[in-house]
Amino acid sequence: MNNQKDKLLDELRFWLPIMKEHAVFIGIGLPCDESKLIKKAQDYENSYDSLIKKVKCPNEQSLDTIAEEALNLNLEFIQYLTFVLDSLIECTLGGSLYPLLIDHMRREAIRFSVNIIKLRSKSTIIPTEELIQKELFWSKIMVDHSEFIAHFLDPSEDKFINDAHMFSDAFNRLHCQAEDFESMLEITPRPIPSLIRFSNEMLQVGEDFRRFNIAIYELLNSCQILSIIPTQLAKHLLQEAERFLFEIKRDLNSLEYIKSPCDLYSAPMPPVFPPSNTPCPSCPSPNPSMPTPCYPPIQPMPHPSCPASSVPEAPILKPSTPETENILTIDAKKSEIELIVPAQPIVRPKKNFFQPNTSQIKINFK
Ligand SMILES: [Fe+2]
Repeated sequence: MNNQKDKLLDELRFWLPIMKEHAVFIGIGLPCDESKLIKKAQDYENSYDSLIKKVKCPNEQSLDTIAEEALNLNLEFIQYLTFVLDSLIECTLGGSLYPLLIDHMRREAIRFSVNIIKLRSKSTIIPTEELIQKELFWSKIMVDHSEFIAHFLDPSEDKFINDAHMFSDAFNRLHCQAEDFESMLEITPRPIPSLIRFSNEMLQVGEDFRRFNIAIYELLNSCQILSIIPTQLAKHLLQEAERFLFEIKRDLNSLEYIKSPCDLYSAPMPPVFPPSNTPCPSCPSPNPSMPTPCYPPIQPMPHPSCPASSVPEAPILKPSTPETENILTIDAKKSEIELIVPAQPIVRPKKNFFQPNTSQIKINFK
C-alpha cells in the first residue's frame, strides 16, 4: 500500500473506535424516556463496530470501500449529533449531556470525514498549513477535555479541578497563539523557527496533560478519586491526548523534508508511523514466521532534488476566483432524523484564498 493508503488506514483505525465510543456516551447520557434517540445511538454503535472489524485486515480495494462506508456513516452521525445539539440548546432535551460535549463530538466527526475525503481524493495541503490546522484543532479539543474533566469531578476534588483548569488555560493560550501563526503565515506558509519552537511548547504541555490523563484514569480505576467520569471516558480522553501528540510529532517530522522553496509544494509525504504504545492489530501472515507489518518500516526518505526549471523564485500567489477555486464538494445523504433548522454546508479549511495552496472541502446537507 502506498503512503496515502497507510494514512487512510491509520485514520480509520484511530477514529472509528472513537466514533463508536461517542455513540455509547450519548446513549448513556440521554434521558431514559428518549427511546428513539437511544435506539439510534445504539445503531451507530453497532455500525461503527462492524466497520472496526472490517478495518482490521483490509486489502487495498476493500480499504476504499470501508472508507466510503465510514464517510457515509459519519455524515449521517453528524446530522444526528446536530439534532441532539440543537435539541439541547433549544432546551427541548434533558439528560446529562453537555451541549459542548456534543459540539466537541461533532467537530471530531467532521474532522474525521474531511480527512477521509482528503486522503481519498489526494487533495493537497502544504505541510506548514497542515501543522497549524492540526494545532488549532487539537488545542481546542484539549481545552474541552480539560473542562470536561473539571466538570465531571466531584466538587470536593479541588486540587484536580484546579489542575484541569490550569491545563484548560494553557491550551487556550496555545490555541490563541496558533491562530496568530495561522494569520501571520496565511499568505506565505513556511516553517519559521518560532513556529517550530511554539510546536515544541505545545508538545510539552501535551505531554504534561497526557500524564494528568493517566493519573485520572488510574485513580478512577482504583476508586481513589470522587467523580462521575466513566472509566471508559477517561481512557477515551487519554487516547485522544496520545493521538494529538502523535499527529503534531508526525507533522513536525514532515517539516524536516522542506529544505527549499520548491519543496514547499512538492515535498513527499512523510512516512506514517503508528504511536509507539498502540499495538498493531494482528493480521494473518502468508508466511507464519514473518508477521505482516501493519505499516511499512520507517525508511529515511531521500530528499528529492529540485529540478532547476521547477524552482520558482517565489510562490505564485493569486487571489482565488470562482473559476480557480479548488473546492471538492460532497453531498451528504439525507438522514432519517429531521433537523430542527436546515443545515448549512460545512467548509474546511474555513479560509482559503489563494492557489495552489490547499484544496477546500465542502459538505452539503440536504
Ligand atoms: Fe475528544
